[in-house]
Amino acid sequence: MKIIKSVNQLQKELKKLKKQGKSIGFTPTMGALHNGHLQLVKRMLKENDVGVVSVFVNPTQFNDAKDLKKYPRTLKKDSELLKKAKLDILFAPSEKEVYPKGKKNTLSIDLNGLDTRMEGKFRPGHFEGVCQVVHRLLDIVTPDRLYMGQKDFQQFTIIQQMINNLKLNVKLVVCDIIREKNGLARSSRNERLTKKQRDEAQIINKTLLWLKRNRNKYSVGELKSRALKKLEIPGFKPEYVSIVNGKTLKNIRKMSSHSYVVACVAVWSGEIRLIDNIILKNK
Ligand code: PAJ
Repeated sequence: MKIIKSVNQLQKELKKLKKQGKSIGFTPTMGALHNGHLQLVKRMLKENDVGVVSVFVNPTQFNDAKDLKKYPRTLKKDSELLKKAKLDILFAPSEKEVYPKGKKNTLSIDLNGLDTRMEGKFRPGHFEGVCQVVHRLLDIVTPDRLYMGQKDFQQFTIIQQMINNLKLNVKLVVCDIIREKNGLARSSRNERLTKKQRDEAQIINKTLLWLKRNRNKYSVGELKSRALKKLEIPGFKPEYVSIVNGKTLKNIRKMSSHSYVVACVAVWSGEIRLIDNIILKNK
């Protein structure tokens, strides 16, 4: 596995590989890798001749300075995991390499309101930063396929919109949510939970599964208010339970009027913010 820190060197390497006709897969991450990330990497390596993973904690997508500061940085361990997974290229750039002209965002994309709902409402500027960095990374790597997780449902929906909008020549591949044994979606932030919090956090997945089982039993309004109640256990503070159209991310009123419906939740466990989702129907 090659570890590359400079954009120039990466592009030189990729140019050589592309000349040989090799297909390139790309998985952007912020590091602190777990099985959720590794699943994307495995699939990427299966479907492409060459796999590239980036590890970059992107400052422009953090609306909370404390969250950015506390974000785990474990490059040594990450590179060991990626080497074991037989990755070809690990790209670990500095902020200067990613934003040589400064962090100011000059990208303007019409996201059709996708970025104003759910996470967008509670994390102002977050998706602008995500689009900025993914756009920049795609520009550097120019992969054939881009790998992202369903765990961040709104994120991949927005990136797909960016790809369509800017007519970027890359195929987005979305991978399933990987969970811990107790059902909690794997996340780099889980490392900051106490054992007790981690145990209690299984209520999130349980509530999502309850929503799926009961999607035709209650009205959408009733589903949301019952789910919120389930999440209100001591030490937990649900921020939202949204039941939305999976394409537009707009709140729906009636389950039967939509063919693709997703429930998305954000919950605070102490100081840690957790998000998760489940596809309620897709047909
Ligand atoms: P990060 O949180 O490191 O996640 C990198 C990718 O791994 C994302 O596409 C995310 O959806 C996926 N992922 C994380 N946990 C997962 C899980 N439990 N199951 C399946 N997939 C999972 O998301 C980001 O970084 C950043 O916003 C990024 C896209 C890299 C831009 O900075």
